[in-house]
Amino acid sequence: MSKRTIVTLPGDGIGKVVLDETLRVLESAGFEADYIEGDIGWEFWRKEGNPLPQRTIDLIEKYKVALFGAITSKPKDAAFDELAPELKTKGLVYSSPIVGLRQHFGLDICLRPCKSYIGNPLNFVRRGQGTTIEEPAVDVAIFRQNTEGLYGGVEWSNPPVQVYEAMMTHPKFVQNFGATPKEEISISTRIFTKRATERILRAAFEHANKYGYKSVTVCEKPNVIRETSGMMYKMAQQMQKADYSHIELWNTNIDAQMMWLTKNPEDYGVIVAGNMFGDIVSDGFAGLIGGLGFAASAQMNPDNGIGVFEPTHGSAPKYAEYEVSIVNPIAMIESACMMLDFVEEQEKAKKIRKAVAEVIAEGKVRTYDMMKMRGTAKVVNEGAASTRQMADAIIAKL
Ligand code: NAI
Ligand code: MG
Repeated sequence: MSKRTIVTLPGDGIGKVVLDETLRVLESAGFEADYIEGDIGWEFWRKEGNPLPQRTIDLIEKYKVALFGAITSKPKDAAFDELAPELKTKGLVYSSPIVGLRQHFGLDICLRPCKSYIGNPLNFVRRGQGTTIEEPAVDVAIFRQNTEGLYGGVEWSNPPVQVYEAMMTHPKFVQNFGATPKEEISISTRIFTKRATERILRAAFEHANKYGYKSVTVCEKPNVIRETSGMMYKMAQQMQKADYSHIELWNTNIDAQMMWLTKNPEDYGVIVAGNMFGDIVSDGFAGLIGGLGFAASAQMNPDNGIGVFEPTHGSAPKYAEYEVSIVNPIAMIESACMMLDFVEEQEKAKKIRKAVAEVIAEGKVRTYDMMKMRGTAKVVNEGAASTRQMADAIIAKL
């Protein structure tokens, strides 16, 4: 079999560091691949006026699988200020390359696993009976619809007349907003299609089936947001009945779910939600298993076989300036494990996860976040592991 080619997208700041360390871990696990680096991020916005150049899109199109570090984004005005002078007259507007990738390749399936490692000092604990303390084992896989809903980008302030008139055909609009001048109205839409909803639900049930989770929870708000959340839940009921009757289907409201998060997180298995609620609930669960140093994600389109794997965290610019990097590489390493699962190298993924688990359980090598330190440049002198030392410890276990 010929060697696989993986596109690496280091991006900005600490994205570069955690990606480099992750490639060393992949190599030690025996994953053989050629890597081609793709340009993405702030540097390319400044120099070329495009944070996601066409040549990078072409690379991903060709090789299908990408490991992505993190990028820096800034608000519109700040983005304009930093453009190269010769580009400033071209009317360029910054837009997120991550969202760009999702839309271009239809990466509508986002998976964010949140599984606690035994011995991680950042694990959530709760008060039990009397004076006891409980540390529930969290093992949740969150499926977030990644292209539609509130992040679909269909929105207006002072909407065009046709839109306004269409809205005025809805009795609730007339009743609640009919007296407000058009210029004073902003509208963000929440559009769900049957096709995309079916796909995210299918991915969630398939995952539960493959990995033996006993339940799939639809986390939306169908009693209030009747059309979109309601459609998702109804489709989930039909799908469960037709194809997955051995898996339980649960239904929670996003607000209540966030309250219950700390009450019984161990009870949940696979969770599936629309774009916004999926984003919220996955951050909530990530907080229970160690936060940004541990939160990984996959964005996939099963139809074209394209997958982009990245930690949830950003480029942490402040930390990127330290001579010795202190950030935790585990979120990126976990993302790479999902990449391995995606390319049918599950055994290697398993090996790496086992090595990570051993290092954490041993408790000798911990990055600053795991020691609850403030992230200064001095933490390594004060006993925290550097990014490299953490990767080395994992490699030693491999
Ligand atoms: P951030 O995730 O970069 O950092 C927030 C804080 O989390 C850091 O100061 C640090 O204390 C901690 N942290 C992050 N990653 C860590 C790691 N691996 N280990 C230990 N601690 C870690 O978010 P922030 O500061 O809000 O944004 C910085 C830049 O990153 C912005 O330009 C933002 O737009 C961008 N961003 C990019 C994302 C992406 O590429 N997917 C996601 C989130 C933010
Ligand atoms: Mg988020």
